[in-house]
Amino acid sequence: MIAGMTDGATLLCGKSVAENVYAECTAAIADLNQKRGRPPGLAFVLVGENPASQVYVGRKQKVSERLGISGQIIRLAADVSEAKLLECIDGLNQDAQIDGILVQQPLPAQIDATRIVRAVDPAKDVDGFHPANLGALAAGLATGFRACTPLGIMRLLDSAAIPLRGRQATVVGRSLIVGRPISYMLINAGATVTVCNSATDLQLLNQACRAADILVVAAGRPALIGADMVKPSAAVVDVGINRDSAGKLCGDVDFEAVRSRVAHITPVPGGVGPMTVAMLMANTVAAAGRAAKS
Ligand code: GUN
Repeated sequence: MIAGMTDGATLLCGKSVAENVYAECTAAIADLNQKRGRPPGLAFVLVGENPASQVYVGRKQKVSERLGISGQIIRLAADVSEAKLLECIDGLNQDAQIDGILVQQPLPAQIDATRIVRAVDPAKDVDGFHPANLGALAAGLATGFRACTPLGIMRLLDSAAIPLRGRQATVVGRSLIVGRPISYMLINAGATVTVCNSATDLQLLNQACRAADILVVAAGRPALIGADMVKPSAAVVDVGINRDSAGKLCGDVDFEAVRSRVAHITPVPGGVGPMTVAMLMANTVAAAGRAAKS
């Protein structure tokens, strides 16, 4: 089952769509193993002790293991110098056993994240953050790697056959990880896209959200989107991962209030999160496939 019914909206269930992606990956990995005699290699660089980052990287490594991808976590101290981190990335760029490199964000304040993103070989940039990859996306080219969370959102929308061409899409958030790349993906798919950010006038934000056939929210603000901010036929994609006052995981959308008013909605957890991990695996398999051909 790809999508489930909830009270009103159909749930966009990332957990089950991710399993379809894994089935495709497993077949491609078997093929690669035969061709190269080794599995795809993925390196995770984890700087410091950020609890959320540790959980995310642990989850990604566990899935890579399950699929037979060789996943290696490189842990660096929170006070590591930028030079040392650049040296580590350079080593991974040169390592023929490594097909994909992921430097988990956020990075500590002493490190210029932009420099780090630019240091990763674009051919191993399975995060899709390098300007060469983001630029290819912005230019509408089919080459390079796409950022995992937005790529997962596109796959989730596709799994429910939600039309994009000629539709109004509103993106709340302009981050490098989600807001910018998903905006370009939606533009490339023929949607009319409005991008809001934390400085957007509240009345304009309300208006843009209510006009949206597809609403993607990646603001990091619990319950930012309420029942009066959505169109009844909308597909609502909640990228937020927050904790409410009781410590329970919640997104940026007031799920209970919104679910009965829209056509499609992603749950938190179980919506976008599993798709991010799945698309990382798909990108790693693609990187290994391209390396095998070169
Ligand atoms: N931090 C939050 N999401 C991501 C992601 O997709 N990739 C990396 N590298 N860091 C993140």
